[in-house]
Amino acid sequence: MRKVGLFVVVAVSCLVALGAVAPQMQPSAEDLKQDGPAYTSSGDLKMPDYRRWIFLTSGIDMNYQPIKSPPGHSIFQNVFVNPRSYEEFLKTGTWPDKTEFMLEIRAADLPISINKNGQTQAKKVIAQEVHVKDARLEGGWAFFNMEPSGTGKLISRPADCYQCHEAHAAVDTTFVQFYPTLIDIARSKGTFSPAYLNDEKNPAGSR
Ligand code: HEC
Repeated sequence: MRKVGLFVVVAVSCLVALGAVAPQMQPSAEDLKQDGPAYTSSGDLKMPDYRRWIFLTSGIDMNYQPIKSPPGHSIFQNVFVNPRSYEEFLKTGTWPDKTEFMLEIRAADLPISINKNGQTQAKKVIAQEVHVKDARLEGGWAFFNMEPSGTGKLISRPADCYQCHEAHAAVDTTFVQFYPTLIDIARSKGTFSPAYLNDEKNPAGSR
């Protein structure tokens, strides 16, 4: 019995030791190298490789949207952020300069294949909108609308995009209150915007 017991102890210790040296699921320094916004010589935004970024949420038919879904045709809003900025947010609860978000608006498919209920995301991307934090841009943050040509055009101020994000977004003009893995980090780091704290106190007045 003593031998078996010892074997178990050794095996467990080996597993613990293996765990300690197992590769962590952390992005490499190479991944985290400059992965933020890049511009063309005329100041348009280059299309980021956002499908390799960190996924934050899929809103469905949220009713603030700049693009309205026709009845019976839902849309998903998938939000992604560049990995370097995500890592920084985990530490600080806010976004560093050169943060880049993609809001991908994708059509919903009614039951297809074996699916008989609910909706799935269709291949069709309806729009791609980008939010960039860059100290060189007016106001420090800017929105870009990706065009079919593959580059993003700056949405100049004033626009309702800036107005709503500045008036209601939880952290630094981004809607962290809808990003379920980030909201508690912001809360614990105390990085909520005064506008959001006001909305939280007075939900009826927040629309
Ligand atoms: C009435 C409020 C409102 C307006 C106007 C608005 N947005 Fe947003 N935006 C939101 C909300 C809410 C989210 C969170 C989306 C989610 O959870 O899917 C969001 C998220 C985003 C994101 C993801 C990054 C972030 O900042 O959180 C981008 C990019 C974005 N919006 C672009 C735009 C652009 C471009 C416009 C103008 C054409 C616009 N928005 C207008 C409310 C608004």
